[in-house]
Amino acid sequence: MKTPVLLILTHAIFGLNPVFADVTTTIVASSNYGVWEGWGTSLAWWAVAFGDRDDLADAVFSLKDASVNGVTLPGLGMNIVRYNAGATSSNSIDGESMVRSPKVDPFRLVNGYWLDWTSSDPASSSWLWSTDAKQRSMMQKAQSRGADLFELFSNSPMWWQLYNHNPSGSDNGSSDNLQSWNYQQFAVYLSTIALYAKNNWGITFDSVEAFNEPSANWWNGKTGTQEGCHFNVATQQEVLPYLRSELNSRGLSSVLISASDENTYDAAVSTWKGLNSTAKATVGQINVHGYQYGNGDRSALYNQAKSAGKKLWNSEYGESDATGSQLISNVILDFRWLHPTAWVYWQIIDGGGWGLITGDDAAGTLSGPTQKYYVLAQLTRHIRPGMRILDSGCDYAVAAYDTSAHKLVIVAVNWGDAQYLNFDLSQFGTPGQSGATIQRWSTQISSGDKYATYKDTTLSGSKFWSYFAKNQVQTFEVPGVVL
Ligand SMILES: *[C@@H]1O[C@H](CO)[C@@H](O)[C@H](O)[C@H]1NC(C)=O
Ligand SMILES: *[C@@H]1O[C@H](CO)[C@@H](O)[C@H](O)[C@H]1NC(C)=O
Repeated sequence: MKTPVLLILTHAIFGLNPVFADVTTTIVASSNYGVWEGWGTSLAWWAVAFGDRDDLADAVFSLKDASVNGVTLPGLGMNIVRYNAGATSSNSIDGESMVRSPKVDPFRLVNGYWLDWTSSDPASSSWLWSTDAKQRSMMQKAQSRGADLFELFSNSPMWWQLYNHNPSGSDNGSSDNLQSWNYQQFAVYLSTIALYAKNNWGITFDSVEAFNEPSANWWNGKTGTQEGCHFNVATQQEVLPYLRSELNSRGLSSVLISASDENTYDAAVSTWKGLNSTAKATVGQINVHGYQYGNGDRSALYNQAKSAGKKLWNSEYGESDATGSQLISNVILDFRWLHPTAWVYWQIIDGGGWGLITGDDAAGTLSGPTQKYYVLAQLTRHIRPGMRILDSGCDYAVAAYDTSAHKLVIVAVNWGDAQYLNFDLSQFGTPGQSGATIQRWSTQISSGDKYATYKDTTLSGSKFWSYFAKNQVQTFEVPGVVL
């Protein structure tokens, strides 16, 4: 659409921004990619280090302003928690003890609850329920701030259930490590934690995930830096029915099984297709990790999930780009082609650009937020659980609609030269009141605006527009929109 004369004059007079070509997208009001369940994070390993910090819990799981190391952060308002059931313990059993990869980062070995094969009774001394207190503490802080979706996930079964007793993986990385006589015992382990959490921690897990990137060939006990375990698809197919029946027998039949947390969209399609109908029937939710970034056939996985009637989550995403550029790019690709109903960042605190807040889990030290934190805030604070996900009509924006508040949310990024982005709401029954103020928030990728807010945008008929610098992310909340 044409840029209004008034804006051209304003910019011409003050010489702020030369007027460039602009682009328009029409939000597809009739589209519906499901009800948004939320945004989240996995707790291991940052919460093992920082699980007692209320300031971090405020920043991650509330919408309040939180002061972290003297910096006031807009709370991300995440409501999904992935709790990691550890695989590590220091005890010996009949002279046998855990084997460690020479490369393993001790902080990435998470203490597990089941110490030995003597007894499956959670009240027996074979279970140590006091371990891993900080990860549990953060989970409970999250809950008290409003988190309402909890997933229990495993990177590896307990070490003593593994052929080589090494929770970083098999000796060559590409073969199964769970002993074939322990398939059911692994299901007993996770189901027992789920029941114990319900009875003792006040946490009812909504889902349980037994496999983490199971088809990968890098879960290697000789070179691994963390816990991990390869599972052939045929093995997953045998474990899944045990997990279903062990959950059911503990009165947890409403707890979903999610699978298989493959590393890429393409691997997830291949694994899903490889499971037989019995195994597929046990799964309520397909999880996938977003490590294929700009590649992979997201649509193919969406089509598999949709035709099977399963929920679909991007259950783990992370990268080393501290600017937020890759993150916003990949979230948009996910909304446009994968259509997950939840999106989970891997580690809140980490180094090397991976963290939303830079820190060192092992040293227990924190510095400041990355720009990626503010880019993610542009999404998590506005696209909220319960909203209907819409087709934005373009590859530079996402859109969601709050049916009860009659609010339309658009988050957009401008990759190219500075220009106006125009948004056409003409497909809505009521596109809002012409002249209404549209609040907007802005974060500049890399540096600049950090979730700054402005009230300088108005609806003009059924359209509005905003001037975007190169690499600027803006969020808009349009009031009074009726489908
Ligand atoms: C890995 O080790 C297993 C068990 O020893 C073996 O069956 C498999 O062929 C090995 N795979 C590779 C790629 O070396
Ligand atoms: C699927 O695989 C499991 C485990 O191998 C087996 O018990 C079950 O009978 C299979 N189901 C079908 C429909 O083939």
